[in-house]
This record gives sequence, structure tokens and C-alpha cells, in this order.
Amino acid sequence: MKKITIAIDGFSSCGKSTMAKALARNIGYLYFDSGAMYRAVALYCMQNGIIANGEIDKEALRQQIDNIKITFCADAETKNSVTYLNGVNVENEIRTLEVSQLVSHVAALDFVRTALIDQQREMGKSKGIVMDGRDIGTTVFPDAELKIFVTASAEVRAKRRYDELIARGSTPDYNDILANVVERDHLDQTREISPLRKADDALLLDNSEMTVEGQLAWLEEQFKLRTAE
Ligand code: DC
Repeated sequence: MKKITIAIDGFSSCGKSTMAKALARNIGYLYFDSGAMYRAVALYCMQNGIIANGEIDKEALRQQIDNIKITFCADAETKNSVTYLNGVNVENEIRTLEVSQLVSHVAALDFVRTALIDQQREMGKSKGIVMDGRDIGTTVFPDAELKIFVTASAEVRAKRRYDELIARGSTPDYNDILANVVERDHLDQTREISPLRKADDALLLDNSEMTVEGQLAWLEEQFKLRTAE
């Protein structure tokens, strides 16, 4: 069967990574979380004093961007994809609200996007991948054979992120999370470079009322259709 590239884009906390991961596992493809890469750069800024008065020191980050290498590796036990920043497992650190609050600003920087898009294209060179993000179908892999654009209401998405943080042992405030979701939607859609938008040839999936199983069944059907062509 021919190998294809699957691009899953959409708003934050839509459950994109849950469905992308499950799809990749079921069809034997590699999964890449491009949002985790932007989060890792935000974490790098926090860890390396590249933030002053709550603002990113753009020049310092520009000088260091080529030293930031992000890789993914499957966890030996869970088989889940784990994010490494310069060889260190940062999977938990990149999911904090602090990182979530900084990441849209990092993702709006042109030199950050250029560097990460290069790394993403390298990861997808041999096809047989599922990558999720905001600009995968529009910019990173405009020729992807299967493109999905996922959406759900802001409240549903905030509740999902809230539950995820609770499950990780945090004590988040729902209203802070909702405000963060709304702010990130705005920043993601209005940034100058690679703003979040549905590619013309992407299939729209509103999963506000769908179960994870229902979404997965639908995705696998789309995959079968594309690979049978
Ligand atoms: O999907 P996520 O919430 O983990 O993404 C984190 C941030 O990174 C989000 O604010 C949007 C940004 N992002 C992006 O600009 N381009 C991508 N391809 C993926 C994520």
C-alpha cells in the first residue's frame, strides 16, 4: 500500500494529538506533534533566561535557535511519543500553563517557524507520517495526501485541557484556561506568518459532540479512501 502524509491542523485543545496518535498507531505510521516543538522552544527560553519582564528577548533567541534540537522518541513502556529538547525528556514540562501562555508568542517569530519547519520537513521525508499542528496542511506539507482541519467550541476545548491538567496532578483554574484558549485562538489566527487557517483541500471535522472512537473510525475511513485511490 502506498505511504502518504497525513496533516491534522486545527484550534488548540481540540484533541488533535489524541486522534493523530491513535490513528498513527492503528495504521503503523510515525506520529509527530509539531505543537510540542513550539512548546519546547518556549521552555528553552524559560530555562535559559531568554525572557525579560515577561517578554522574549528575540535577538538572544535568534542567536541560539540553531542550537535547539527537538526530537521524538517512543516511551519504552507506554509506546507514546515523548518530546526531547536537546536530548532531555521534556514531555511534562512543556504542558504547563506557563509554557502555554508563552508559546503563541514564540510561534509568531519568523525565524523560529523557519527553523522548526525545516526540522518538520526532515521528519516527513519518507512519508508514512501523521503530523498535527496549525500549518501542516498549508505550509509544512502543502502536498499532503490527506488533510484534516479540526475544530470544537472554546468551552469544550478549555474543559478538555482542564481535565488533562488535573490528570497530570495540577490544580488549574478553569477560567484561566478558557481565557488562554481564547487568547491563543486569536494569536494563532491573526499572526502574520502561517496563520491558522483551513487549507482549501482539507476536510473539516467539528468534534464538539463526537467521541474519540467516533473520530478515529471516521479518520481511518478517510485514510482507507486516500490510500485506495
Ligand atoms: O497544539 P499545541 O497547543 O500544543 O500548540 C502549541 C502552540 O504552538 C500553539 O499556540 C500554536 C503553536 N503552533 C503553531 O504555531 N504551529 C504549529 N504547527 C503547531 C503549533
